[in-house]
Amino acid sequence: MVKINQLDENLNIEGKRVLLRVDFNVPINDGAITEDSRIERILPTIKSLINKKAKIIIIAHLGRPKGKIVPELTLKPIAKKLSNYLNQDVVFLNESIGSLAIQNSKKIPNGKIMLLENIRFYKEEELNSVSFAKELSKMGDIYINEAFPCSHRAHTSVCEITKHINSYAGKQLLEEVKVIKMLTDNATKPITCIIGGSKISTKSGVLINLIKKMQNIVIVGAMANTFIKHQGYNIGQSIFEKKQENLIENIIQEFKKNNCNLLLPEDVITSKNYNSKGVLKSLDQINDDDLILDIGEKTIQSISKVIDESKTILWNGPVGYFEVDEFSLGSKKVANKISENTKTKSLVSIAGGGDTVAAINKFKCSSGFTYLSTAGGAFLELLEGKVLPGIKALEIN
Ligand code: 3PG
Ligand code: MG
Repeated sequence: MVKINQLDENLNIEGKRVLLRVDFNVPINDGAITEDSRIERILPTIKSLINKKAKIIIIAHLGRPKGKIVPELTLKPIAKKLSNYLNQDVVFLNESIGSLAIQNSKKIPNGKIMLLENIRFYKEEELNSVSFAKELSKMGDIYINEAFPCSHRAHTSVCEITKHINSYAGKQLLEEVKVIKMLTDNATKPITCIIGGSKISTKSGVLINLIKKMQNIVIVGAMANTFIKHQGYNIGQSIFEKKQENLIENIIQEFKKNNCNLLLPEDVITSKNYNSKGVLKSLDQINDDDLILDIGEKTIQSISKVIDESKTILWNGPVGYFEVDEFSLGSKKVANKISENTKTKSLVSIAGGGDTVAAINKFKCSSGFTYLSTAGGAFLELLEGKVLPGIKALEIN
């Protein structure tokens, strides 16, 4: 059993500089944060450090500036949000390394916070650079990784840094890992996974791992279109992935070999474009100019039945184009059904991925889920059974 280094709750960190890596990669539109669950989720960790009177230096990234200063990707709006949440000033520093940053880290009063500018403005961040890690580590006495959503990246402030400073896993990160491991290692059966997304090629690894562990897998969203086309139906103008015939055949074989049920849409809602009315169609009624944008009533019923038969549910990927109300009924019904059964039938329900969580929030079902992961890529890679570099870096050898 590998052990992850955890911070002893009783360790006195008063006056110590805690370098806290978080994931504040939240959607920002015109300087306004449109969804902030990643920030909210980290608040208990920050508050606990405030209570312990540590000097808190936060490292985070936003978007993919690729080593360049991109003004729209500044973390300034996040400093403001954080300061509102915590009811205290959050000092924002334009530079994330160098003598000024080190000096400032020492000047932070106990229990106060300094947020460093987007760490991805430095090209060294994505290079897992030794010299950059050494520089960063000079700003702290200890380091805590509370950034589960980017722990699948071998980046400096997630990986290499742990070699140069006493490093620990944050509580939120450990919780994410625990829930995902439970799903693949000892969840109560029958387990059902509802999986969507656009590309089968990027999700085949996770699918093949889950087929071995779960009793039912429901494939929805654009990923299902590739399967529907493979079944010989016309999918019109719908999004699908070309040249995946062999992969699909392999996946279908895996389902058979492992006695796992595969559920695909039986009927769909189509439209001529994203703004027109939706029409309910059976799979053999789809026209050349149709777009599949949601699942139909029959499919909703089949999915509801499987949810009723399940003890554990994993959901990643909305079932339709839920952003537009006309095509949101499938996702809404699925979110409601899972949430209802979690409340009344002790179903264990876990969802992850930005779009899925956004859909669950849109339908006001978040309180009905056992656990919502804040991660997308990291969530899927851990489900796939991969070793995440950021977690590996925190192991006790
Ligand atoms: C995410 O939002 O998935 C994480 O913050 C990682 O970001 P990235 O996919 O740009 O590396
Ligand atoms: Mg990502």
